[in-house]
Amino acid sequence: MNRITAGRRHPLARYAVLLLALGLLGGFYTLAAPTSERADAAIASGRADDVAEGKKLFEQSCSSCHGLNAEGTKNGPTLVGVGAAAVDFQVSSGRMPLANPGAQAPRKPTAPWVNEDTIRQLSAYIQSLGGGPTVPTDEQVDPAKGDKSKGGELFRANCIQCHNFVGAGGALTQGKYAPPLNEATPKQIYEAMITGPQAMPVFNDSIITPDQKRDMIAYIVGVREEPNPGGAGLGRIGPVTEGIVAWIVGISLLVLAAIWITAKKRQAHQ
Ligand code: HEC
Ligand code: HEC
Repeated sequence: MNRITAGRRHPLARYAVLLLALGLLGGFYTLAAPTSERADAAIASGRADDVAEGKKLFEQSCSSCHGLNAEGTKNGPTLVGVGAAAVDFQVSSGRMPLANPGAQAPRKPTAPWVNEDTIRQLSAYIQSLGGGPTVPTDEQVDPAKGDKSKGGELFRANCIQCHNFVGAGGALTQGKYAPPLNEATPKQIYEAMITGPQAMPVFNDSIITPDQKRDMIAYIVGVREEPNPGGAGLGRIGPVTEGIVAWIVGISLLVLAAIWITAKKRQAHQ
């Protein structure tokens, strides 16, 4: 018996050949599968009465932590210069007024007094103190005007390292985390980018232009609307990846089961 034949008869040879074949097939599938898009899935200064009303609201609900003139205290940072966009983001998402100091202020249901008017007034007040990023217009955040596929690319380049996939979010250090993005409104998504809440960096207009921000909003909102087919979604990383995993795991199990059955039979015949 020469060495090759001996090698072929080795009990592990079948497995080696199979693994090789599966590997090749998997690789081929990845190359052949189409990389579909789904695979990854003004209040500039504020009216004078808004500012006055905002100041009153601020004194009642915010000054205990941020100071009577928003200069900051040991319980909260100064808000001079954070801009109307930061106030709109923090208050409309329920983060502020903060209830329980912790590693991070989470999104929560808004306080009963919070509505469009009170948010506009508070924002106008803070804007009047030191400027800062303003609230985007409806036009700037309209998902229908954005390009989803460009937005997807930008999202993958700038956001997934923290947020993973739109519906997932991810843990950061020291008890902080990047939340899932399936609740934020288009306006809040824009504001998060221009104000960089807490551990999130600021993506100003020279890093990501306003048009690109709108593309990303179109992508984030678009992903939410795609139906989830159910089952274990692997974070909805997309049909290609999910398909490959199901296919390779499934076929491998079947093949191993077949080998096991025939191996038993052969033993019985001997
Ligand atoms: C119990 C204390 C507390 C109260 C009350 C509170 N805040 Fe805050 N606020 C904080 C802390 C602490 C931070 C910074 C850390 C964080 O964002 O979690 C913060 C951050 C903010 C920021 C973000 C600042 C930035 O740099 O982007 C804004 C805007 C803000 N607060 C607005 C408000 C407004 C408006 C109110 C009242 C409606 C309010 N806060 C009430 C404690 C408080
Ligand atoms: C370094 C990590 C990091 C990166 C990169 C990052 N984020 Fe964030 N993001 C966070 C953290 C942390 C929070 C939570 C802040 C808070 O709760 O105040 C957050 C919050 C948000 C929120 C608010 C979600 C909600 O439910 O209120 C939105 C929207 C958001 N990010 C969008 C983005 C987009 C779009 C990008 C890419 C341009 C991005 N983030 C990049 C860390 C990150």
